Amino acid sequence: MKKKLKVGFIGVGNRGQSLMSNLGFVENTVVTAVCDLCESRVAECVKQCTEKYGVECSGFTDYRELIDKADIDAVIIASTWLTHIPTAVYAMKKGIYVGMEVGPAGSVDECRRLVHAHEETGTHLFLLENCCWGRYEMFVLNLIRKGMLGELIYLAGAYQHDCRELLYKEYSGERPFAERYLHKIRNMEGYPTHELAPLAKYIGVNAGNRFMTLSASSTKARGFQKYYKETTGKDFEGIYRQGDVVNTLITCACGETITLTYDTSLPRPYSRGLRVQGTNGLWMEDNHSVYIEGRSPKDAWEKDDDYLTEFDHPLWKKSLEEGVKGGHGGMDYLMLEAFCYYARNNMRPPLDVYDAASYISISCLVEQSLSLGGTAISIPDFTDGKWVIKRAADENDYDVNV
Ligand SMILES: NC(=O)c1ccc[n+]([C@@H]2O[C@H](COP(=O)([O-])OP(=O)(O)OC[C@H]3O[C@@H](n4cnc5c(N)ncnc54)[C@H](O)[C@@H]3O)[C@@H](O)[C@H]2O)c1
Repeated sequence: MKKKLKVGFIGVGNRGQSLMSNLGFVENTVVTAVCDLCESRVAECVKQCTEKYGVECSGFTDYRELIDKADIDAVIIASTWLTHIPTAVYAMKKGIYVGMEVGPAGSVDECRRLVHAHEETGTHLFLLENCCWGRYEMFVLNLIRKGMLGELIYLAGAYQHDCRELLYKEYSGERPFAERYLHKIRNMEGYPTHELAPLAKYIGVNAGNRFMTLSASSTKARGFQKYYKETTGKDFEGIYRQGDVVNTLITCACGETITLTYDTSLPRPYSRGLRVQGTNGLWMEDNHSVYIEGRSPKDAWEKDDDYLTEFDHPLWKKSLEEGVKGGHGGMDYLMLEAFCYYARNNMRPPLDVYDAASYISISCLVEQSLSLGGTAISIPDFTDGKWVIKRAADENDYDVNV
C-alpha cells in the first residue's frame, strides 16, 4: 500500500474547490489543510475534507501558517494571479512540493524569483496546466509522436473566451478577490498557458528548444465597454487598457514560430484555436479539421473523427474505457493524478519551474512589446543555457507517469 500523499490547498474559491473535489478521485491522497482569506470558505472546506477523508483537516487564513504548521507533503496554490508566485516561493523555501495554478505573471523578475527558489532549495514546482491533458491536445501529441504531421513548423493557439460577464462581476464587486481588474491598467497577453503549454511541449521547449523573441499587436478596447453600457445603462468611466484582441508572434530556437491570440471581451464561442502544422500536414481545433498529404483527398479538409479513433492517446483510451472522472471533461483528474505521482516521488515534473517561468512571463513580455509599438522583445532563457539538454522521458513527457 502506497503512503498517502498529504495535500494542502491555498485558495479555495471556484477553482480551488473544483480541484479539491477532483483530487478526491486520486487514490492514496488526503487533504490535510486548507487556507483562504475568506473564513467561511475555509470552514466549509475543512468540514468537507474532514468528513471525506476521516482525518482532521486544519484551516488557515494566512498561507504562511499553513505552510509552517500544517502536516502536508505538497500544496496546491489556486489563489489569485498576483499571489501565486510569492506563495509558491515561500512553500518551496520550506521544502513543500508545489502545484501552482495558471495565470499571467506580474513581472519577469517574479518569474526569476520562482526559478531561484527552486535552484536554491531543490524543491520542485509543477505547473497545473490542465489543458496539456485535454483529449485533443493528447490526441495531437500522439499524432506527432507517430510522425503523422512530419517535422513541426508552425503552431498557433488562443485563449478565446467571452469573459465579459466575469469581468463585469469583478468590477461590480460580486467576485471580490479576483484580478481581472488588471485589464483596467494593463494591456497584455492575459492568459497564455492553456494554449502555449501543450504547444511548447510538442516542440520540446526547455528540452532542446526555447522561445527566443516575441512581438505583439493589440486592437482597441471596445467589447467590455459596450457590455457595461448594455448592462448598466451607463457609460464605462475611466481607463480600460486591455485591447479586445492581442496577437503575439513567438520565434523559437529550432526554427518554429508560434502565434497566440488573447480574445476575452468580444462575443464568441470558447476556443483554444489550436493549429499544429508540420511538413506532412496539419490539424486545427476549429471545425476539427485535418489535412495529411498522401492520406487526405488532395487540397481538401477532412474531419478529425476517424483520426481520433485511430490516434486517440492511450491514456485517453484507458480513461474512456474506465469512465472519465472529474471536471473539464476529465483533463483535471488526469493532471492531478500526474501531480500526485510526481509529488509522491519528489520528482522533477514534466511542467516544471523553468516551463512555468517561460510560459507565464509571456504575459508581461507582451506588455513590454505593446508599450514599444510591437517591437520584438528577447524572451529570457530561465534555464541559463540548460535548455539545450534533452530531458529524460519520465521528466519531460507529461503522459508517461500516470
Ligand atoms: N486551469 C484552469 O482551468 C483554471 C480554471 C479557473 C481558474 N483557474 C485559475 O485558478 C485561480 C483561481 O481562480 P478562481 O476562479 O478560483 O478565483 P476565485 O476568486 O474564485 O478564488 C480565488 C480564491 O483565492 C483566495 N485568495 C486570494 N488571495 C489569497 C491569499 N493570499 N491566501 C489565501 N487565499 C487567497 C480568495 O479568497 C478566493 O477564495 C486563478 O489563478 C485562475 O487563473 C484555472
